[in-house]
Order: sequence, then C-alpha cells, then structure tokens
Amino acid sequence: LWTMAAFRDQEIAKIRAQVGTGKVICGLSGGVDSAVAAVLIHEAIGEQLTCIFVDTGLMRTGEAEQVVSLFRGHFNIPLIHVDASEMFLGRLEGVSDPEQKRKTIGAAFVEVFDAEAEKIDGARFLAQGTLYPDVIESVSFTGGPSVTIKSHHNVGGLPDRMKLALVEPLRELFKDEVRVLGRELGLPEDFVGRHPFPGPGLGIRIPGEIRRDMLEILRKADVIYLEEIRRAGLYDAIWQAFAVLLPVRTVGVMGDGRTYDFVCALRAVTSTDGMTADYYPFDHEFLGRVSTRIVNEVRGINRVVYDITSKPPGTIEWE
Ligand code: XMP
Repeated sequence: LWTMAAFRDQEIAKIRAQVGTGKVICGLSGGVDSAVAAVLIHEAIGEQLTCIFVDTGLMRTGEAEQVVSLFRGHFNIPLIHVDASEMFLGRLEGVSDPEQKRKTIGAAFVEVFDAEAEKIDGARFLAQGTLYPDVIESVSFTGGPSVTIKSHHNVGGLPDRMKLALVEPLRELFKDEVRVLGRELGLPEDFVGRHPFPGPGLGIRIPGEIRRDMLEILRKADVIYLEEIRRAGLYDAIWQAFAVLLPVRTVGVMGDGRTYDFVCALRAVTSTDGMTADYYPFDHEFLGRVSTRIVNEVRGINRVVYDITSKPPGTIEWE
C-alpha cells in the first residue's frame, strides 16, 4: 500500500544514503515545490542543509518576506536571503524575447546562486524541487517530439557548471501529491495550497521588455485580483490565477479627462498538472467587480480583459 507517509520515510532514507555527511544547498523559489523539497531534506539531514533564497525583483508583493519568515521563523532552517533585484532588472533592460528573458533570468540566477553557494564550505549537493511534469515537459512536448515550448530554467542549467550532485526527492510526484507531502511535513495550509508561480516570476507576465514602472503597476493589479478571488472563496478551486500587464495602451475616459493607459489581462485556469488547462468560468459580476477596482485603484491601467483561452492551444502564461 502506497501512502504519503511511507513515501516520505522512503525519500528520507534515500536522501541520507545519497548525501551521507555531505552538505546540501537548496534554492528556494518562493513556491511550494522547492519549499517541500527543503523541509523534507531538512528532516533527513538537519543542519547539513542550507537554503538560499534569491530575490529576483520579479516576485509578487509580499512574497519574499513570506518565504523568509516561514523558513527562518517557523522551521528554523538556515537561510541565506540575497536581494539581487537591481542586478536582475538591470540585465533585463532591452530584453524582450520570452526565451531570451528566461535565459537572462536563468543566467543571473546561476551567477548569484553560485556566488552564495561557494561561500558554503564543502557543499557537494544541490537540492531541487523538480516534479514529474517538469521532467516530461523539459524533454519534449506531447504535440511532437523534441519541441521545446518554454525552457523552464528551474530544470537543468545549474548542475553542470557547479559540479554539484543533484538531490531531487520530488521527481516522481505530481503537484497535488507534493501538496499532500507538504501537509504531511507540517507546512502551513495557506502555503501548501498556494498556486504555482513560475521561476521567472512577473518577468514573463509583462510581454516584451520589463520596465520597473510596469512591474509596479502589475503588482498592484495582481494583489487586487487575488484578493477578490480569495474573498469570493474561489482560490482553492483555481490552479493558477494572475494578472498580466500588456505593453499596449488604449484610450479611456475618467471623470472629465481622457486617459491613455495600459491594458491588464486577467488569467485563471483549472488544471491537475499544468500540462493541460481550462480557463476558469468566473461569473460576469465577479469580473466586473475586479475590473472596476483595478481601473479605479491602479494608476496606469484603464482597461481590463479576461483571457478565455484553454491549454492547448494557449499556454497558461502569456510568454
Ligand atoms: P505554460 O505557460 O507552459 O505553464 O502553460 C505551465 C506551468 O509552468 C509554469 N511556467 C514556468 N515555471 N519557469 C518555471 O519555473 C518557467 O520558465 C515557466 N514557464 C511557465 C506556469 O506558471 C505553469 O504553472
């Protein structure tokens, strides 16, 4: 009989066997996967694990703070917090192609991570929260062999350059199973239930070049959207919901004046593994309420649209 408790014990034994007395470093992304991997490894080898959290400047409002307080405060797991936002945003100036953005972010991440990891004397292992669908999607796309749709920088990239052996205890799991394991390990429910968040973060939620002023605008709209989703009790019924800020300006009218501001697109999908997805059928009243709030409260947005594309043929993210 396969249970999550048994899986956990089995993985703990495997980690101990693989790692021995070696030191492990684990990058936290702010998401569920890397957090669950870290807590599991911490249970297995305790202080031999050090976590590194790189703030890319592409996180949602409050996210960096949450990760730091969860790990340092709640779990008491050694955590290095690096604020590298200036470096990331600087490198991204003038970069507009989606894959180029991923590569830029991935390369900057490796650089920062590498520099921090080197300070940890004798680290020989790198832990990652790679899931089964990551393994599959990185290799090929079901629509045809060897076509890379999106290069997720959280799979691959790090190990070759760093000469560290990989520890990937979640490699056989799907997202819903990772959540069950997270609960088993005592992660707080609101953290375990979090929607997935991509490594490149808000960087792939502003199509084209990422500007700082646009990031600020996007963060404000995103907070309102998620707040309304929670208030309506819909958060757990949705796989992922987020705002996208389009680099398109349209004409509007506010009071007596003309506005010429950005368009905000709202995305929400249901899915079981992120490989296929359906758009979430919000009622119009809900969408109208979110739209009114965003346009009224966020300066820089004067139009809101809702994305009704499923995957395939769309993808969940816009880039
Ligand atoms: P797509 O947009 O390909 O997304 O339908 C499927 C799932 O993957 C996430 N995603 C990423 N995650 N790095 C990541 O770590 C990436 O570059 C990346 N691109 C997409 C997306 O949020 C969804 O959960």
